Order: sequence, then structure tokens, then C-alpha cells
Amino acid sequence: MSEQIFNPNPEHAKDAAINSMEAYWKLQNHAIEDYEGFWKGFADKKIDWIEPYDTVLDESNAPFYKWFSNGKLNVSNQCVDRHLAEKSEQNAIIFEGDKGDVQHITYAQLSKHVNKLANLLKNKFGIKKGDRVVLYMPMIPEAAYAMLACTRLGAIHSIVFGGFSSEALKDRIEDAEAKIVITADGAFRKGKPYMLKNVVDDALSDGGKSIEAVLVVKRNNEEITWVEGRDHSYNELIKAESEECPFEPMESEDPLFLLYTSGSTGKPKGVQHSTAGYILWAQMTMEWVFDLRKNDVYWCTADVGWITGHTYIVYGPLAAGGTTVMFEGVPTYPDAGRAWQMVQDHNITQFYTAPTAIRLLHKTGEEEPKKYDLSKLRVLGTVGEPIDPPAWKWYYEVVGNSKCAIVDTYWQTETGGHVISPLPGATPIKPGCATFALPGIMAEVIEEDGTPTPVGEKGFMCITKPWPAMIRNIWNNPERFKKSYFGDCKKDGEAVYFTGDGAMIAEDGYITITGRTDDVINVSGHRMGTAEVEAAIKKHDSVAAVAVVGKPHDIKGEGIFAYIVLKNPSEGNEDLKIAINKVIKKEIGAIALCDAIAFVPDVPKTRSGKIMRRILRSIVKGEAITQDTSTLEDPSIVAIIEGIVKKS
Ligand code: PRX
Repeated sequence: MSEQIFNPNPEHAKDAAINSMEAYWKLQNHAIEDYEGFWKGFADKKIDWIEPYDTVLDESNAPFYKWFSNGKLNVSNQCVDRHLAEKSEQNAIIFEGDKGDVQHITYAQLSKHVNKLANLLKNKFGIKKGDRVVLYMPMIPEAAYAMLACTRLGAIHSIVFGGFSSEALKDRIEDAEAKIVITADGAFRKGKPYMLKNVVDDALSDGGKSIEAVLVVKRNNEEITWVEGRDHSYNELIKAESEECPFEPMESEDPLFLLYTSGSTGKPKGVQHSTAGYILWAQMTMEWVFDLRKNDVYWCTADVGWITGHTYIVYGPLAAGGTTVMFEGVPTYPDAGRAWQMVQDHNITQFYTAPTAIRLLHKTGEEEPKKYDLSKLRVLGTVGEPIDPPAWKWYYEVVGNSKCAIVDTYWQTETGGHVISPLPGATPIKPGCATFALPGIMAEVIEEDGTPTPVGEKGFMCITKPWPAMIRNIWNNPERFKKSYFGDCKKDGEAVYFTGDGAMIAEDGYITITGRTDDVINVSGHRMGTAEVEAAIKKHDSVAAVAVVGKPHDIKGEGIFAYIVLKNPSEGNEDLKIAINKVIKKEIGAIALCDAIAFVPDVPKTRSGKIMRRILRSIVKGEAITQDTSTLEDPSIVAIIEGIVKKS
């Protein structure tokens, strides 16, 4: 299976943005030979500059790189205003609600919504350049309006995924010292209302003191509590605002947004992205990787709370002048045909989702795609985790009818946009393989000292030159930024960006991502730091020690497995497991719940006290223990834990 290779469909390839491997290499060789010239060419062509930049790349304060210094632009202009002359009547957003309600929002309408909201934020709440605005929103068009309204004013948005708990929301509000939260009463999922506003209320009940106002969008019309003076109705206030709001000229390097993500240690980090470099790459990858063309209707199933939702639901598609679909619900409700029904109804040309969703759709409705007309599809995308060959094959053969390219896009919150991915009109694809670095991205599989990892062996997935869309900083924590990304690998004596992933390069240059090398678990394509989950579990009074590892899961890729040492071992029962999961739900959210918990007498530690997670990972997978256990404080614990896990 892994030796199979599929060439691009010539019908689709002939008009593709990059239509052959020769065209790919021409671009990549240009970047290799004249790195700054390569990026200058695209920046000049793609960005609507208000004032020109004077330097392409400033490396003087590495790794705090600067791109297109002193240039001025505005992202809401790039995504909306500049399209109005030609595309005012084209759909910018097609929204489909959980219950099947549909809204078509043209570029002209989008412009009005964004301007009105920008005016409201500015006039009523005094939001200005540099202020932080937290969005805790469902998947409704107002989420996109709010993002673009922030960028119009130069305010920095920080979107908190709606599945995070009030504690997680509070932490993010406090870290960014945000001034306002934009939220909704709630929304609909699987035909039923769910609530968000109450989570904001909880978050602000004992913290989040920087928040001056909460702006609430009505979506499900459920009853909510109202704090007079603090809470404000979007639907009422927006009526009075003008449809004209000038955009703020922003410096290329001004922060565009923060997005918190998990690392292997400590609290989530506020990944800070820039204005010019980010939007340039969002647009370029949209055009290259999804081969976006006139009249295309593109659908990414992510949530705006994750980086995929930022770059490939809102910023990329709109900067490229495309039509982007936003979906409130889940792809298996009311039945396993929902996603394919939507592809048919909206004439979707590109469909982008996570392997978790592909596995679920495959399992729940193997034959389902055949019931719908999916003939408009050209490109199928996957993101967030490795895709296993059986899921890949079903996606390719059944969903794509063996006619569509599959773009297995490898990237991260920190990379801003895709970095390794097939190009639909050029790259012969292999199941489960992210293939090649995109033009302009110097991705290399290397050892810590920068020597290339031999073919077929696992090495560190690094990007050895700065690129425009890269993370600029961790909010308020430049030291952590340096240590997290530039502390592990060097090339020619200089620190280079390390992704945290392992990878393997084949004889023919194809790159396969082998997964995280650090203590980060990938649950349904979402990053979870083991340290974060462990910190939550430790908040339960009965817990003395805990170690969390990923356990392979049929649908989710990985689930969370916790080894817990109790203060009083006799307390270990099913009720306690439920109570511990409750604490996780409160501290982080339902996405971090443990699939399974084993109460153990101790966890394997070295004599210096370091938990040997590799052993715990092997035990949960049922693998033979090949690691040297002689360095353990108590080697006999391994067999005891194995026995407990086998029984459970
Ligand atoms: O381990 C890699 C995995 O997801 C991580 C990034 O997670 P996050 O920042 O939440 O962004 C997810 C959406 C871009 C990476 O470090 N990952 C992402 N894409 C792939 C992948 N692993 C294998 N194949 C991919 N295509």
C-alpha cells in the first residue's frame, strides 16, 4: 500500500496554479537561489500595500525575525475592500446552520457587517490598535465579522475554542489582558441548543478583571443571564452603526492575532502572528495548495477556534477572493450523509477536513458518498494528524472517485500556514505522506547538529530558514519563544526552528511526518500538552501523582490515558474516575477528558525523579518493554503496572 503512487488528474492539472513538478522545482529553486527575491516578488504582487516596505527580511535580532519592515497594509482591506470593485456580488461566505438554515453573504454584505462591527467596537467600547479582544464564538458568520473588524482597527484577537472551559477561557483572557469578550448566547449542535454565554459569566465571576464589556450575539435565543453595565447586545447596538469605517494602516510586523496552543511543558502559550507575512502566506497557500479558482466553492470543516479555522476558513480564502463555507454543525448529523449532502448542495470544489472526521465518516457511512453528486470536487485536504492508509484510500477512491488530489497538509499553529504538502496539479501522491516542502519553505529532516538524517531514518523536522508566516513570539514570553522553538536544533552553528515533530525522508525526497517527539498528544487533530492535563488532574484532592500518555484510538488517532497514584489507594474506584474527569472538564474542557484511567501504586521514575513516559506508552499499547529499566528507582513497578493495565 505505502508503495502506491497516484499522479495528478491531467484534467485538473492543466489549469492548476502549479501544474507540474517542473513548475514546482522552478519556484523552489528560485527560493533556494534568491530567497529574499522570491518573497519580494510575491509580496509585491499579492499584497495591497498602503505604504511600501523597505526591507524584505531583517535577521538582525534572530530569532525575532522581521518581514517587510516598515510596510503598511490592513488585513481587512486585503480580505474584503480590495475585492469590492470586481466581486461585490460574489459570495464571500456561505453559512449553513446545524438545522440546515443557509445564508449567502456577498463581499458587499460582508464589508457592511465588518465595518459596522468595527465602528461599534471603536465608538462604544473604545477598542483601538493593539487592544486585545477575546472571541468565544460558535461557528456563525459573526465570528468572521468579529475577526475582520478587529483587524480593521488593528486590535489583536485571541479566539478561544468554544469547547474550552471557563477556567481555560479565564487563563487566556488574563494572559492577554483582554478588554472585551465577544460571544454568543450559544448555538446549535446535533439539533439541540448549547450554551456559551454562561461559560463567559463563569470565567469572569472570579477573574478576568481586564474585561470591560461582553458583547453578545444572539444565535439560539435561549435564556441567558445578563450583567447590567457589562453585557451588551450585538443585535441591538449594531443597528445604529455606520457602514463606513476607515481601516487602520498597520505595520507589517504589528501583531495580527494571538492563538493559544499547548506545549510540552507549562501553560498554553499565546502564539503571536504578524500582519503582512501571515496574510501573504495564507493567500499564497490557498491559491497553491487548494488551487483556488474563479467560481470555486471551498469548504473547510474546522472551527475558527483553531489555527485551521483562522487561516483556511477566514483569512486565506477571503484574501484570495474566494467563497468559503462555514458550518455550524457536525458532519454526521442528522445522518452520515450530511457532509456529502452539503458538498452536493453548495457545489463544493475543495473539501478540507481532519483524519478523525474522515475515519468517522468512513466508519459510519462507507457507501454514503456514492448517494450524492460529488462531481464538482477537485481537491480533498487533510490536516492535523497523520492519516492512516485505509482512511486515505477511502477518501481518495470513494469520496474523490479516484479523480481528486489529496493534499495531506502538514503545518502547525506556529507555522501560520501549510509548510509541507502536495500540490494538486503537480505532486504524485502517496497515502499518508505529506510529500514535499512548499516553495519558499526550507524544511529539512536533520539531526540536532544540523547534519541531514540518513534516508529512511527518523530525524527532527526543522525549518532552517525563517519564513513570512512564522510565529513571531509567545505573548509576554520571549524567553519561552526562544527555548520552545530555537533551543533544540542548529544548522551551521545557528539555531533553527524545530517543529517538535519527527520525520523521515525517503530516497526519492518524499517526507513522511512520524509524529511528535515531545510530550504532546494529538487527540482528534487537537494538540494537548500532557503537562496541562496532568496539572488539571492533580487538582483533585485524592491524587498524589499522575502521568498522562496517548493511547492509539480508532477514530480520534490518540486518546488520553492517565496513570494515577492515589494518596489513599483504597479509594480507587469507578466513581473516582468520573470525579477526576469532572475536574479535567472544569479546568480545560471536554476535549481533554481521559478515555481511560488506571490507578497504580507508583509511576516508573528514574532515580532523579523523571517519569519514564516511554515505558508507560509501551504498556498502554500492549508492546513488549524494550527500554532499559535498570535506571529506574524501582524496576519492579513496570510488571505491576503492566498487570493492572492488562486487567483493566
Ligand atoms: O504533530 C503535527 C500534527 O499537528 C501538530 C500541530 O498541531 P496544531 O498546532 O494544533 O495545528 C493543527 C493544524 C495545523 C503538528 O506538530 N500535524 C499537523 N498536520 C499534520 C500533522 N501530523 C501529520 N500529518 C499532518 N498532515
